[in-house]
Amino acid sequence: MKTGSLLILPGDGIGPEVMDEVCRIIDWFESKRDIQFDKSFDLVGGAAFDQYKTPLSDDTLAKANEVDAILLGAVGGPKYDKLDFSLKPERGLLKLRKELDLYSNLRPAQCFDALSEYSSLKSEIVSGLDIMIVRELSSGSYFGEPRGIKNKENGERYAINTTYYSENEIRRVARSAFEIAAKRTGKVCSMEKANVMEVGVLWREVVQDIRDKEFPQIELTHMYADAGAMQLVRWPKQFDVIVTDNLFGDLLSDCAAMLTGSLGMLPSASLGNKNANGKLKAMYEPVHGSAPDISGKGLANPIACILSFSMALRYTFDCKREADILDKSVEKVLRNGIRTADLLQKKNKKPASTSEVCDEIIRELELAN
Ligand code: IPM
Ligand code: MG
Repeated sequence: MKTGSLLILPGDGIGPEVMDEVCRIIDWFESKRDIQFDKSFDLVGGAAFDQYKTPLSDDTLAKANEVDAILLGAVGGPKYDKLDFSLKPERGLLKLRKELDLYSNLRPAQCFDALSEYSSLKSEIVSGLDIMIVRELSSGSYFGEPRGIKNKENGERYAINTTYYSENEIRRVARSAFEIAAKRTGKVCSMEKANVMEVGVLWREVVQDIRDKEFPQIELTHMYADAGAMQLVRWPKQFDVIVTDNLFGDLLSDCAAMLTGSLGMLPSASLGNKNANGKLKAMYEPVHGSAPDISGKGLANPIACILSFSMALRYTFDCKREADILDKSVEKVLRNGIRTADLLQKKNKKPASTSEVCDEIIRELELAN
């Protein structure tokens, strides 16, 4: 019997809807496979603010520190736009990433064959695409000090954010990218702006140094991040693993997401150092946001969140076979033409609802079991 603890934080907007479906998938695994989770639920983001007046309570953070993995839906919404910056839903998510020191964010962008027609790019550019963006997640412009909106002596305001990276912060995410690449095709492209930013100069030097000393078998290239964005839409299949900083990784992963047909398809894993059980600290979440415009309507695509759970099975719970059958079931459902609205081109076809997609995935799981 495999087992482990799971903290489920559905969050805001479509987060709770897609997480409900993930819970049905979890129930299926618990009833049909030799696996059991110690599950707990809590609030994050706007939902936590409504209840506790903070986007992440100390109690929730303490729980997050103890579990083997966190599953998070999404945070944010227009209702919270006027809140002070420190209370915004996004601060809850960022605090989890920072406090748990989740420095390596894996964002796989895979184009399922059934969806190669759905990308905004030509199908030959994206079909068979399988890249992994490794985004540094706990430092850089998101957390650097000093930061803030301040006043000059003449009363004019100015704003400041700092892009900070220590050698160690670069080293550890580089190692993570090289380890992942070693299990794939062995190719890594590192992206920064070494032509403009000192951070980029140090980033390039340290990444190269780790490759030379510890991973000589890896083929490492470097690219300026702006050129990288261009190459991602020009010929994405030239890449296997891309390693980049927090801010560039945020932009490049949205860009890569669209190559796969929809932002509603992309899962992610955020990993840190080992916890007391010898497992890497981990949080799994879809790359998409809370999508307030469609929330509550049964339109949301649950696949990114379901695939995030699959990544949890693979990376935290050591359930490779379960992850494989889940991934295959998702693929089969897409092949059968079951699509939520974000994946429909012909508007005359009725989209499947969030729960119908999950019904179909469970049906495929039954068949595969
Ligand atoms: C992401 C999101 C977050 C980020 C937001 C919600 C804070 O865009 O995970 O990519 O900027 O990192
Ligand atoms: Mg983003």
